[in-house]
Amino acid sequence: MIRTPEALIPYILMIALVLGGMAWNLSDRMSGPLTVTTGEASIGGPFTLTDQNGAVRTDKDFRGRWMLVYFGYTHCPDVCPLSLEMMGDTLAKLGPKAKKIVPIFVTVDPARDTPPVLKPYMAAFGKNFVGLTGTPEEIDAVTKEYRVYFRKHPLPGGDYSMDHSSQIYLMDPNGKFAMDYTEVDGPDKVAADLAKRL
Ligand code: NI
Repeated sequence: MIRTPEALIPYILMIALVLGGMAWNLSDRMSGPLTVTTGEASIGGPFTLTDQNGAVRTDKDFRGRWMLVYFGYTHCPDVCPLSLEMMGDTLAKLGPKAKKIVPIFVTVDPARDTPPVLKPYMAAFGKNFVGLTGTPEEIDAVTKEYRVYFRKHPLPGGDYSMDHSSQIYLMDPNGKFAMDYTEVDGPDKVAADLAKRL
């Protein structure tokens, strides 16, 4: 059978589509801070950090309860306060079931977010919030485990902000990844999802 060039056109188009799709997929992965939400087995892990009262806290302290973990920094002008507010609103909607969940904020800016800075910040979002900081090495380790992207972004005048990914991770009572949300999901949707799991 001899194929004329016209007969090959559908095949050429198909190959072009496949290659185009691969290139698109690759560029998407390379452009975003964190676009991968699957691979649940490898999100999270052990940590040793310091809370807003200066006490050493490890992941094991929270076994038996669910953890809602968010990474950010207190100087964040927008996404961090919105995300923490959403977490607080979500827990308020859950009522008594919220006792099974520990809301946790881990700073990606340990140089500025010391325990005395974290203490009033956490209190603004709810009395049960745990704020965690640590040495740069400890923060590097926990952000790697949770696949959190962050980068210092210098501002004119010597100040800086932190670019960072903004997932809210739900970890189950055994410390295993269960789900992730963002502040865009809103308290109604997240509370409904949590209520099904608890
Ligand atoms: Ni932020």
